[in-house]
Amino acid sequence: MADMNGMIKKGWVIVCSQIQRKASPRHLLFVICFMTFMVVLIQIPRLHKSRYVTPVYNQSEALRYRPEQCYNCNSHDFKILINSDKVCKTSSVSPEIHTLILIASIHKGRAQRDTYRKTWLTYTKNNTADVRYAFIFGNLNDTEANAALLEESKIYDDILQEDFQDSYINLTIKTMMAFKWASTHCAHAQYLMKTDDDMYVNMPGLRKAIGDNSQQLQSAIGGKCMPEADPVRDKTSKWFVSYQYYPRKSYPGYCAGTGYVTSMAMVKEVFKVSKHLPFFYLEDVFVSLCVERIGKSLHLIEGFNSNIVSPINSKVYKSDNLVTVHRVGPELLLKLWNDQCLEESEILLSAENNEKTWTDC
Ligand SMILES: *[C@@H]1O[C@H](CO)[C@@H](O)[C@H](O)[C@H]1NC(C)=O
Ligand SMILES: *[C@@H]1O[C@H](CO)[C@@H](O)[C@H](O)[C@H]1NC(C)=O
Ligand SMILES: *[C@@H]1O[C@H](CO)[C@@H](O)[C@H](O)[C@H]1NC(C)=O
Ligand SMILES: *[C@@H]1O[C@H](CO)[C@@H](O)[C@H](O)[C@H]1NC(C)=O
Repeated sequence: MADMNGMIKKGWVIVCSQIQRKASPRHLLFVICFMTFMVVLIQIPRLHKSRYVTPVYNQSEALRYRPEQCYNCNSHDFKILINSDKVCKTSSVSPEIHTLILIASIHKGRAQRDTYRKTWLTYTKNNTADVRYAFIFGNLNDTEANAALLEESKIYDDILQEDFQDSYINLTIKTMMAFKWASTHCAHAQYLMKTDDDMYVNMPGLRKAIGDNSQQLQSAIGGKCMPEADPVRDKTSKWFVSYQYYPRKSYPGYCAGTGYVTSMAMVKEVFKVSKHLPFFYLEDVFVSLCVERIGKSLHLIEGFNSNIVSPINSKVYKSDNLVTVHRVGPELLLKLWNDQCLEESEILLSAENNEKTWTDC
């Protein structure tokens, strides 16, 4: 570098002296070459920068589009408003945590939470077994709702809340809250599952899915994962994503946000890199962008986000091959859990294309 600086200095001396004196053609040629060299030198950092942008649509526009990375732009340093030490506390009776399940919930989802506590969350034995859980929240500009949440946390001690605005657009922040909390407060757990509060999670199925895929999960996120997906460019769609917001032709796939699972090693890495990637409002795509950036993969595991196959009865829901089912409301869940017969309308709700074998139960 010192040599380079010396060369540039010498060059300038010659250039300046040539400008002062009457320049000969040979010297003039040197001056032109030197100037060209300087221009190229100045451009190098800019060329370097553009390597991180994938210009697929309009090259000149693309330079102003979403960058592929940014330094500490998603630092996620929100204050914790409600915490729980109990969730990941171990004891001589329960020395190890196999899986931590963090469930994205909303303030008004009390009925769902209470139903889960009475059904599939009983496997956690009130957070004393080797499977643990907590519901996770952002903040609402609603004093009453926040107070109710605090009361609920005093009863069950299974609530985590951070001080970011709780909204649909901010679901990505909620997911990163899960990754952060797991890696800072529950790093001794082996696996993390992130799911939502409109899900049925079949714990024996989850256990088997993790056991069968434990090797892959060391370097992958597992669930209902698609290897490829294209952004929706139709402005009228709920999933519309503009070229400015995301310039690449396709997403690096994604694992459906309704439920996915991974190892603690991955949780730590994903959270670390997430700070340096520009925000993306679809949380499952954002997680996939993080996974891509650290050179890890998405791993399809059967049984996640199941399309239930007939016959529709609680035996199907409790089979080892089923991990999660989406949109199971509190009443339906209670019936399935207690092996009660379903109404015809409930079956149509949970599986549109299946035979109606509800009378069999
Ligand atoms: C690309 O973007 C530039 C700058 O906005 C614009 O002037 C140009 O017309 C665009 N080209 C195409 C092919 O859309
Ligand atoms: C868990 O707590 C509830 C009360 O909140 C209690 O009824 C239940 O028996 C507890 N279960 C276990 C396994 O301790
Ligand atoms: C919160 O709600 C209050 C009363 O409804 C309102 O005056 C205030 O502007 C809101 N604050 C924010 C940040 O939305
Ligand atoms: C997301 O949360 C941040 C931090 O609280 C807040 O500034 C922002 O307004 C929220 N965005 C939406 C759309 O709720």
